[in-house]
Amino acid sequence: MSAAGPPVPALADRAAACAERLRAADGVLLASHIDADGLTSAAVASAALARADVDHEVVFEKQLDEASIAGIADREFDTVLFTDFGSGQLDIIADHEAAGDFTPVIADHHQPAEADTEYHLNPLLFGIDGAAELSGAGASYVLARALEGPDVDNRDLAALAVVGAVGDMQDGDGGLRGANEGIVAEGEAAGVLEQATDLALYGRQTRPLPKLLEYATDVKIPGISNDEAGAISFLSELDLDLKSGGDWRRWVDLDDAERQTLVSALVQRAVSSGVPAGRINELIGTSYTLQAEEVGTELRDVSEFSTLLNATARYERADVGLAVCLGARGEPLEEARNLLRNHRRNLSEGLQWVKTEGVTTEENLQWFDAGSRIRETIVGIVAGMAVGSPAVDREKPIVAFAEKNEDELKVSARGPHHLVRQGLDLSVVMGEASRAVGGDGGGHDVAAGATIPADQREAFLAAADELVAEQVG
Ligand code: C5P
Ligand code: C5P
Ligand code: ZN
Repeated sequence: MSAAGPPVPALADRAAACAERLRAADGVLLASHIDADGLTSAAVASAALARADVDHEVVFEKQLDEASIAGIADREFDTVLFTDFGSGQLDIIADHEAAGDFTPVIADHHQPAEADTEYHLNPLLFGIDGAAELSGAGASYVLARALEGPDVDNRDLAALAVVGAVGDMQDGDGGLRGANEGIVAEGEAAGVLEQATDLALYGRQTRPLPKLLEYATDVKIPGISNDEAGAISFLSELDLDLKSGGDWRRWVDLDDAERQTLVSALVQRAVSSGVPAGRINELIGTSYTLQAEEVGTELRDVSEFSTLLNATARYERADVGLAVCLGARGEPLEEARNLLRNHRRNLSEGLQWVKTEGVTTEENLQWFDAGSRIRETIVGIVAGMAVGSPAVDREKPIVAFAEKNEDELKVSARGPHHLVRQGLDLSVVMGEASRAVGGDGGGHDVAAGATIPADQREAFLAAADELVAEQVG
């Protein structure tokens, strides 16, 4: 896939076949995953189906497995569109297809199980990296373009596709790349998206300046990161109006010259306090702004938008997130903001717990078991955040457990990129180790998950440790 070019022809052909099948359907059940990428995948597909006059209903699942797929089959739709999951469960889905339960159409980016089906749209089948170059929402967007009719232009949906990609952490140091870059270019051409080089701190739209600096801990700046008084005193020394009408100003409220002043001072402080040059470079990155959204709201910045969506779907309120994606404001947006406050608190408490308790180190991996202290739907996010903290070794993958129910544990794994380059594939580790103990799992090379019987933690860890050794040893 060339940068900013059209999707590879074979991917576009597959999308056209999927679109054709969906147009011919009597009714479509659209099933998607409960995270930011899953929500945006569903929103992109739902908008495109509606514009193509295809009747459909949307449902969300925490995890696609035998039970949830059987539940979907029971709905008796002739066509089921799976977005942001489905590939990993192709074996189960293919059985339902063979039994005549429904025709599956899949727009996903996870490692496929050993089976195939006709309407399977997945970047991995066409040489595109599903962990870094195209997300579920991206696959859904490719499908949406194929669903366009003579008077329909779906390029505005690129905005949501980019929220999904960033929600799945596909933006690396240089921003989005590969097929994702092509989507960014289409969003820019459609006037819904702007890409820029900007200060790479989370909260540019909504956080008051002191909080923007205090909470930014990816690159630790002594005396500012995690230091409220320090952040305020740093800001006070600059030639900047810090408040407007009694309120702290935000990054978006500053003009170009003011932003330059702040960035220069921040870099200078980092240099003088010995932050390595490589880390300092990380203070600047690529931002993606949704042009149609109001300035100073979570929706304006793709990264803040994706957190807002996780705050809904991971707490059984995917309906709220979907409504916001589809353009609802007012009450649903207020509800999403309430959920966001709760989500933020849970993440911060979860991370604190991991830092306090620490992790257990095995030969080839490290792990913690949060029991019921961290919700199983966010334990993966907490594990990812913990990777940046001193409690966690950057040289080994981290495996996190949380209670799913009385009988089962949820597992989330995250790996460092340099190990992935050496052969680490956590989708294989989670898949094989879980199946060895009577569970199931999968995902991507850098991030994967599983569900296992509650009494199999030790056996699972032993199997996973050995698999990691085989891959990178
Ligand atoms: O199911 P789905 O593909 O949407 O989830 C991807 C998960 O993997 C997200 O939780 C995302 O944060 C994580 N991930 C990661 N680092 C990457 C790619 C994905 O932590 N480089
Ligand atoms: O839940 P978590 O964020 O840890 O998931 C990481 C990745 O692994 C996601 O892409 C998710 O869809 C995938 N996963 C999976 N099967 C599971 C659990 C997670 O494919 N049982
Ligand atoms: Zn995804």
